[in-house]
Amino acid sequence: MKLLDLLVVLSMASACAPAFSAERHDILVADFEEADYGEWKVVGTAFGRRPAQGTLAGQMPVSGFLGKGLVNSFFEGDDAKGKLTSPAFVIERKHINFLIGGGKHPAEACINLMIDGKVLRTATGPNGQAGGSEQLDWTNWDVGELAGKTAVIEIIDERQGGWGHICIDQIIQSDHPRSFASAKRELIVDKKYLHLPVKTGGRKLRMKFVDAGQTLREFEIELAEGTPDLWAFADVSQFLGRRLLIEVEHLAEESNALDAIRQAGEIPDADRLYSEQSRPQFHFTSRFGWLNDPNGLVYSAGEWHLFYQHNPYGWNWGNMHWGHATSKDLVHWQELPIALYPQKFDDWCFSGSAVVDTKNTSGFKTGGKNVLVAAYTSTARGECIVYSNDAGQTWTEFSGNPVVKHAGRDPKLFWHEPSHAWVMAVYDEFENTRQIAFYTTPDLKTWQFQSRINGFYECPDLFELPLEGKPGQSRWVLYGADGKYVLGQFDGRKFTPETEKLQLWHGNFYAAQTYSDAPEGRRVQIGWGQGIEFPGMPFNQQMAIPVELTLQQSVDGPRLFAEPVRELSVLNANERSWSNVELVSKENPLADFQGELFRITAEIELGQASSVGFVLRGVPVRYDVATRQLSCKSVAASLEPADGCVSLEILVDRGSIEVFGNRGRIALSVGVAVAADDRSLRTEVTGSGAKLRSLKVVTLKSAWK
Ligand code: FRU
Repeated sequence: MKLLDLLVVLSMASACAPAFSAERHDILVADFEEADYGEWKVVGTAFGRRPAQGTLAGQMPVSGFLGKGLVNSFFEGDDAKGKLTSPAFVIERKHINFLIGGGKHPAEACINLMIDGKVLRTATGPNGQAGGSEQLDWTNWDVGELAGKTAVIEIIDERQGGWGHICIDQIIQSDHPRSFASAKRELIVDKKYLHLPVKTGGRKLRMKFVDAGQTLREFEIELAEGTPDLWAFADVSQFLGRRLLIEVEHLAEESNALDAIRQAGEIPDADRLYSEQSRPQFHFTSRFGWLNDPNGLVYSAGEWHLFYQHNPYGWNWGNMHWGHATSKDLVHWQELPIALYPQKFDDWCFSGSAVVDTKNTSGFKTGGKNVLVAAYTSTARGECIVYSNDAGQTWTEFSGNPVVKHAGRDPKLFWHEPSHAWVMAVYDEFENTRQIAFYTTPDLKTWQFQSRINGFYECPDLFELPLEGKPGQSRWVLYGADGKYVLGQFDGRKFTPETEKLQLWHGNFYAAQTYSDAPEGRRVQIGWGQGIEFPGMPFNQQMAIPVELTLQQSVDGPRLFAEPVRELSVLNANERSWSNVELVSKENPLADFQGELFRITAEIELGQASSVGFVLRGVPVRYDVATRQLSCKSVAASLEPADGCVSLEILVDRGSIEVFGNRGRIALSVGVAVAADDRSLRTEVTGSGAKLRSLKVVTLKSAWK
């Protein structure tokens, strides 16, 4: 152990402290500047035989260490394992400071302070997922209560795979905590938006907006430290005229990343919005950032509300907020300000639902409009209730939140008329199983547990549908995030299944939800087109087309059917129809069709053909007669012909193709990256005797113009 005569920098606190707090110099435990590990014991291969001299082979650039050497367990890559143990030392100062970087794998890749064989303090690097940075930063342990004890430090790397390593430097005992650097910038808010430079895939930093010591917003952002590839934006209209401190942790004070932030009256690239090269033209996308589950689908006062899981600060998942858009026709959407902001960092607004409390059972109503009530998962608190008296624009937290506390998420609310009660169906990880729990309440505030059903994961939906053609008959549909559903009965407290798990949607489709309070008893559903990516665009992911669900008698019994909502036809531009066209290979009735956005309906008589279908802008949509599989790219589902025929309805947009087989008996949602220059359509057939009984091709207009 060496003593170091480091200059003790007086912190603000100690500068103001009484004179009797005598200053003591820092004590160096290790700085890894020597040619070997000295008295430190080395086990395994991860730490090499001597301290690293910076970045190791195959590693992203390591920065932030001091001097030449550091501990870096990337010798032999992420998979190597090992352990470093310090010689024993006595704790003589209030803090142990050190620089740390690498993976975030508690107990597996970490640094531990051990006394009598017990881990009393531990720390990891900041990187828990792909991306991130090899920058080391200061952190510290408060060890005041351990003064006089003999301790050792262990640096462990038992972790394999991504970020399976740790970096450590400059372990110092001190009476002053050293914590990571932070960069700051102050500004007076004089415009509606702050534009924030983003480098997708870059280092994730924590940014805060602070006013008078109060944190107003806090989120993670891949802040561009050089040229940004995207500009995120924060709506700060709420803070107009106020002095805002923007603070970013783990960013060196000298960094100029914050200088690039600019104030603006418009969102970035407002003039190019919705006409970007890959922007879907009739599927909903967020104007900026990441989108996943649809949330709070509710129809009220002539408007279809679409809230959604949203990262407003980046292209990937994170920082969950509720975005908000409304439509009068389910086709043209207008994006509104963010509806739900997290109350604090790490208390994200996960999925949920909304209802119109027409009878004001909650007592939340204050004005002339119907009050909207939503339930969402606060990741730190539990299931929470919020309400809005201004048509969903602003929301107030119920003072009794959380209303349900459990290991679970994604509350779906609905009114159950026979029992005159509200019901919440919510994903529940009861005793490590995947269940849906049902709670009830008369007033949306005090919830009573009723029952659980096993075998469903995330984002439940539950609704009743009349069975078409069977007056007086209906079934309840219990629907999970993966699109699998069960038909049965629900008595207001308990769901009793009557079928196996069934499936209507296939492909890029997840976490769908149906609308509350839809007019005419319609059951309108929107799913998230999970995994449909838009590289190079300011936005990512899309919603699937809104569909109307019905329950129809099929040869297998009652089944859900989905067809695009009738409103979609407002986008029809040109239309051409054919009937009774023989399908012959090398002949293409669609040869003179060129375009981008299409709706194609076809009734195909199979004859003796072995496969029939289309190639749409280079993407095959095919029905294989022998296997009875309808497929688009690699997404396939079984479909039985009816009277030797299959019918197809196909929607072609820039990011996806959706295919509805036999009038919605099955539906495929398929992400496609169509080549912008391939604007062709053609029919495809193998074998003979197939015929297009009818074919209609409609070119569609953009919903954004
Ligand atoms: C489903 C889901 C939900 C959760 C939300 C978080 O996609 O994981 O269970 O509430 O997304 O964004």
